[in-house]
Order: sequence, then C-alpha cells, then structure tokens
Amino acid sequence: MELNRRTVIAGAAAAGLAATTLGSTATSAAAATGTQAANGSSGGGKPVKELFGTLADGTKVYRWSLENGGTRLKVLNYGGIVQTLEVPDRRGHHANVVAGFDDIADYVAKSPYFGALIGRYGNRIGKGRFTLDGKSYQLSVNDGVNSLHGGKQGFDKHVWDVEPFADGSEVGLHLHYTSVDGEMGYPGTLKAKVTYTLTRHGEWRIDYEATTDKATIVNLTSHVYWNLAGEGSGTIEDHELRIAASRYTPTDSGLIPTGELAKVAGTPFDFRHAKPIGRDIRAGHVQQVQAKGYDHNWVLDKGITQRPEHVVTLRDPRSGRTLKIATDQPGLQFYSGNFLDGTLTGTGGHTYRQGDALCLETQHFPDSPNHANFPSTVLRPGQTYRTTTIHTFEA
Ligand code: GLA
Repeated sequence: MELNRRTVIAGAAAAGLAATTLGSTATSAAAATGTQAANGSSGGGKPVKELFGTLADGTKVYRWSLENGGTRLKVLNYGGIVQTLEVPDRRGHHANVVAGFDDIADYVAKSPYFGALIGRYGNRIGKGRFTLDGKSYQLSVNDGVNSLHGGKQGFDKHVWDVEPFADGSEVGLHLHYTSVDGEMGYPGTLKAKVTYTLTRHGEWRIDYEATTDKATIVNLTSHVYWNLAGEGSGTIEDHELRIAASRYTPTDSGLIPTGELAKVAGTPFDFRHAKPIGRDIRAGHVQQVQAKGYDHNWVLDKGITQRPEHVVTLRDPRSGRTLKIATDQPGLQFYSGNFLDGTLTGTGGHTYRQGDALCLETQHFPDSPNHANFPSTVLRPGQTYRTTTIHTFEA
C-alpha cells in the first residue's frame, strides 16, 4: 500500500502535476519505482489529488486522478464531476471521451451538468410539485415551471467529501454529501454516498447509496456527456446506439412525461437493433420536434433488477471505441445534446455544437412521484437506496 502511494506521487511529480499528499504519512515522493498513475501504464495505484481551483467563497476545489486497466479518470470534488475520462481506441490510442471544462468558474457559471452527479432527483418533476403520504411539497423550480436535476442548487453544485481507496485490484473514490432536510424543497436529511471504482479491466462502476430520516423521494444519476470519437471532435450522429427497450415515455412540450408507456416499434425511438443516432433524428416525429432531438426516458425491458444488466451499447465505428452500460435501474434517459449551441468551449479548446456529445443517464423515470404507474422513487427511514451502473469500454 505504502509503495503504491509513493509510486503514484512520484509519477505525478514526474508529469509535472501539483500533486498533494493523500495522507499525513506520505512523505517520500522520491521512490522512483514507477509512474503508473501519471503516464498511463497499467495503473492501479492510489488516486492522486491536486488543486483544481477556488470557488468565489474561497472554498478550494480538488481534482483526483485515477487509473486502472487502461482507463483514466479525473474527478472533481465539486459535483463529483468527471472532468475527463480516457480510454483507448482499437490501435491503443487514448482519447478523452467526455465533455468538460478546464476552469472551475465555467462549471459554476454555465455547465449543462457536464459530468456531474445529479440529485436529489434526476430529470424533471412537473411544476416541481409532488405529494407524499398526503403532504404536498414544492421543490425549487429551475427549468421553466419545472424542477430539473434537483433544482437550482442540486448535487452537481456542491462540494463533496472525497475518500480515495486502492484495494487489491480496484481503485476509486468514495464521495459523500449530506443534503439537509428541506434543501431545494425535499423532505428529510438525505445522506448520499457515491463510489466511483475503476476495475482492473478498466470498467468504471458507480455505486449510489442514500438514507433518509423522513419519507422522501430520490433518483440519483450521472450526467456524463459522451463522444467516443474524442471530446470536441464533432457530432455523435454517426455513433451507433442500441437500447434494450421496447417502450419509452413520451412527454409534453415541457419534457414532462404524459404517463404513457409508448411502443418504440415503427418510430424513430426504436434502438432495439443498433443504428446510427443520426439515421432517424430528423424524422419529424412530434416527440423529437418538441425535444429538439432525443431527450426521453426509455423503459428498459428488463425492469428493475437485483444486479446490473447490460442494456445499452454505444459504438463509434471510426475509432472502434465501444461503451456498454449495465444497470439495475428501470430507465435510461438518452439525451442527444440538443441544447449545446456553440457557446461553450471544452477542455480540448473546441466549442460544443448541437449533437457534439450525448448523455445516457441510468435512473428511474422522470416525474415518477406524479405517475402512479411508474416504479416508485420513495425512500423511507430505515431503508437504504442502493443502485449500481457499470460502464465497460472496448475497442
Ligand atoms: C437532461 C435533460 C435535458 C437537459 C440536459 C441538460 O438530460 O433531460 O433536457 O436539461 O439534462 O442540459
């Protein structure tokens, strides 16, 4: 363990990173036994921490670098944001495949949830209202009349406590955030713990956990924007997507589900067999016109499962990079980057235009608290909310 720690610090120093120590005893950065964390060899060393920026109130934001099995991840303690994620193509060339910013100020001022953890409720709740056990609640409204991704200051806009680990073959971070009773209008103090793990096969696993002291609702997810050809490299319309779902939840013009579980058969929403995202994106279906593309919840055929099951495959034919997602959740929000409009510039110095990245958010259905026919998102005292999503990379 001690050897690992020295190794990664030495590696970071060799790469010119402003690495700070991880624990009080890590003093000897001179053990030049390897450079795995920084130079991208096999990985598996303990995560490396460095200063990323400072918030307006003086709070320091840190960035953690992790690597294992060929996958490299950089994570901010602000919002649990995945700033970069590098995986190899079929020739072994790494590229960053997620949208993000270089500067903490951009994340604070204008991020459309790039890479962030979303809570307490992924996606929209109509008019920000719901009733639980006969009591009505009004949530923070931040998307027209609706509440989106937890409200004005969701989990994406808080600094999380981070605990790194490297045990045996896995490397990762435990992220903790406690949302107090009434925050953004939600009942109950919610203690959330999210674990990011890189396995020795280079998979990125997310384990979410939460407990509450009053009945509440919860629906956590991750808002990574993917472009498997490389961040900032242009459109994702040629990516091939497969979603194991025969139904989706159509929405009204405010993107709130109507409650219907509509069949995908014979519509542009049919991704049961892999097809390029661009193939039907201009099909003129009323659901696409009002969403400016795809921005819908797919009802996964497998439903809620005890264990994560493979439900989504995304593939960039040029690089061969392939992402497979397994989840225990019942829904998937596929968002085709419709609101990216050329006004944001990412980590690679390129502006993001419409469809330059896409999101695949594993979760419960949007607006579930207002639809009795949707799986429940209620969490009660004594229960533990637990869900897992696994991202596997191939080329
Ligand atoms: C989600 C929503 C979209 C949009 C993005 C962020 O995916 O469904 O409508 O709000 O987040 O821009």
